[in-house]
Amino acid sequence: MGNLPGAPMAYTYLDLTFPEGLPGLSKELLADHLALHRGYVDRTNKLLEVVRAAETEGRFSLELKEYRRRLGFEFSGMRLHESYFRMLSATPGAPDPTHPLQKRIATQWGSFEAWWKAFADTCTMPGIGWGTLLKDPTNGELAHAFLEDHQNGVPVGMEVVLALDVWEHAYATDFRPTGRGKYVEAVRPLIDWRFVEAAYGR
Ligand SMILES: [Fe+2]
Repeated sequence: MGNLPGAPMAYTYLDLTFPEGLPGLSKELLADHLALHRGYVDRTNKLLEVVRAAETEGRFSLELKEYRRRLGFEFSGMRLHESYFRMLSATPGAPDPTHPLQKRIATQWGSFEAWWKAFADTCTMPGIGWGTLLKDPTNGELAHAFLEDHQNGVPVGMEVVLALDVWEHAYATDFRPTGRGKYVEAVRPLIDWRFVEAAYGR
């Protein structure tokens, strides 16, 4: 045990609380949702710790294989919630039409409004997961994907530019389980485009 490599670095919770809530979303909804985010961080840290210990000690059990499989769910859930909560703001920045992301949106969809309709349609697809706008870093192309759970349906190598949580826990408290479309429209004015544009890069 004494010469085993070190423990994995622990991930930390978001430093966000939204004490005043966000316009259109209740404080209760946000508090519950942030608590769920912390669960993903805790489980990601625990999984990495358990897998690292088992691998360095040579305990290649059936459980270890299932823990590895689970990492895709927990880690992706952690990362997507980070992207989601950091993108939400009570004082969001507006889209900058001179930014490469906005130019790319205009090129691919013709207009911001046409893009939004396609994104909102992605977010209202049946299933449990996330509506996402993704970037192919090899050519700057954008695409939409519905990521089931957190990790299924990811086009490998694409990067998250904008992620909207459409699990029922993200909206049912305020909008009822049937209100996903209303929730997506309620989030639209909370999107901080400074964050989204930075995620796309230049
Ligand atoms: Fe969530």
